[in-house]
Amino acid sequence: MERIHMPCFLPGGSVAHRLFPLSYLARQLTLTCRVIVIAVKSAPLRSPSPLLLLASVMATARVLLRRGLLPGHRPIAATGRLLLAQTHSSLSASAKPKRLKTFSIYRWNPERPESPQMQEYEVDLNECGPMVLDALLKIKNEVDPSLTFRRSCREGICGSCAMNIDGDNGLACLTKIPAAESAAAAMITPLPHMFVVKDLVVDMTNFYSQYKSVEPWLKRKDPPPEMGKEVPQSKKDRAKLDGMYECILCACCSTSCPSYWWNPETYLGPAALLHAHRFL
Ligand code: SF4
Ligand code: FES
Repeated sequence: MERIHMPCFLPGGSVAHRLFPLSYLARQLTLTCRVIVIAVKSAPLRSPSPLLLLASVMATARVLLRRGLLPGHRPIAATGRLLLAQTHSSLSASAKPKRLKTFSIYRWNPERPESPQMQEYEVDLNECGPMVLDALLKIKNEVDPSLTFRRSCREGICGSCAMNIDGDNGLACLTKIPAAESAAAAMITPLPHMFVVKDLVVDMTNFYSQYKSVEPWLKRKDPPPEMGKEVPQSKKDRAKLDGMYECILCACCSTSCPSYWWNPETYLGPAALLHAHRFL
């Protein structure tokens, strides 16, 4: 059954009440007291009868809540509209026709005797984010937790989700899922010509030791003007680095280079050479 998120009536309640039920109750109590105090202060207190007085206070409290006159509190009407919108979008998502996409993913587990194989998974793109990494995470979270791949930042900064997608090396978090209409399955394999650790995870040891071998750091020819103090860089000098500092060491370039495939022990590959050039 579809789960519909019910926005909480009180500010901060939707998450807080699950994590900290006591603090949520305390908050509710505080808010109730605040409503009563404001209502008592602003209700017309001319009525001699306690019942009429209570009714008057309650009516004032209702007006305060409905109009969102309590600080940090969402008006009832807005809450209702939000609830209706969320219910509507949730129902319309489930009513949409499925957009099934097949992903054919390289699987190999060193602890099992079977040879590597391609395993197929179907994902409804209506219920998945737009990127290949979204589909992989959905498969791992909902279908097959044994699927193994690297990822971290989810926005093209860490370089850990590099893999081969439909024949091209790329970052899964920045590569859009090929259109659902295309009949062919999206093929996902590890970076080419690398030793596989498990599924889509490759051994990056050689790649990193090549990077380290170029000693990618600055070496001064003369001692700094003041020992132990920073040496400010001019904007002009900083601009010289454009095009050379952006590399995130994903290894997509090196592992798609045939020279690197054939001579990985002697050829450092484009990524390491780029880093060496930065400090020349
Ligand atoms: S230069 Fe190579 S390793 Fe660096 S980010 Fe680009 S593709 Fe990745
Ligand atoms: S997860 Fe960091 S680059 Fe893709």
